[in-house]
Amino acid sequence: MKLALLGCGTVGSEVVRLLHDQADDLTARVGEPLEIAGIAVRRPDRDRSDLPVSSEVFTADADALVSRDDVDIVIEVVGGIEPARSWITAALRAGKSVITANKALLAEDGAALHAAAAAGGADLYYEAAVAGAIPLLRPLRESLHGDRISLVMGIVNGTTNYILSRMTDTGSGFAESLQEASDLGYAEADPTADVEGFDAAAKAAILASLAFHTRVTVADVYREGITEVTASDVASAAKMGCVVKLLCIASRDDNGISVRVHPAMIPGEHPLAGVGGAYNAVFVQAEAAGQLMFYGAGAGGTPTASAVLGDLVAVARNRRGGASALTDSAYADLPVQRMGDV
Ligand code: HSE
Repeated sequence: MKLALLGCGTVGSEVVRLLHDQADDLTARVGEPLEIAGIAVRRPDRDRSDLPVSSEVFTADADALVSRDDVDIVIEVVGGIEPARSWITAALRAGKSVITANKALLAEDGAALHAAAAAGGADLYYEAAVAGAIPLLRPLRESLHGDRISLVMGIVNGTTNYILSRMTDTGSGFAESLQEASDLGYAEADPTADVEGFDAAAKAAILASLAFHTRVTVADVYREGITEVTASDVASAAKMGCVVKLLCIASRDDNGISVRVHPAMIPGEHPLAGVGGAYNAVFVQAEAAGQLMFYGAGAGGTPTASAVLGDLVAVARNRRGGASALTDSAYADLPVQRMGDV
């Protein structure tokens, strides 16, 4: 099966690495090899010899790559609204499966993308768009589909959580902590999206749309970032036994739904208070399931690439007719150790 990768930055380069390192496992799980047909980047001539892929696959012509007849699956990790929207729409309408991490686009125009997927009879998966490595969207769009969700609440931006955690734990300054988050590959290309809450608001819109089976766009989300949070706010919160976190809260009651993102003081004993670094954590409250908590690495190239690869296996299997993962024989000969033998 042939893949077109659009973008080869923090996430894209990790996708390339994992596709190479885990090629045998992926082939076994899908039932056939996954091959990179092309990688669209702004500067194809740049030295990328550290990546386990031939330099010939790089191209500046994403439009041509997406429309190639032999491309089955398109992975978009460029971000931004255009030209990502045109590429994804063209691919879906042509019946190619699409995996994207593009939260800004999904939060602005998710309904149109889903319509394009329906028109082309193609899969549109985007687990990597929200909360990095944490399996969260598929539980919302599949596992919990038989339940009624009333609340999705948590920390969905790793960069701001990293900054606030550093300010709380070490007294580091805002600018210095933001620079560290950028250096570690957590922040967006323009970190304003993180610190002003746009990134979290986009994720909140996606979560609310899936949780409440409705159309919520980023324009519907109340948004406040963390740029007004000072070292003295963090210190005052600590004196009261609290920490400051940027929260995403999407709730549904008899009056409708409300979706908001803003900094909040949380009591030190609350489970969200202990979520440090670039980790994310999200509570889901559902009528029958009760309260569920999802926790893990919310940002960074490798964790986000893990989510992309999970989607890749799912859409590749769907293209092959939806064979069950349980029929895999990839691990059939691994020895099982019983407690007494260890
Ligand atoms: N900039 C984002 C964050 C990346 O910090 O959470 C993951 O979506």
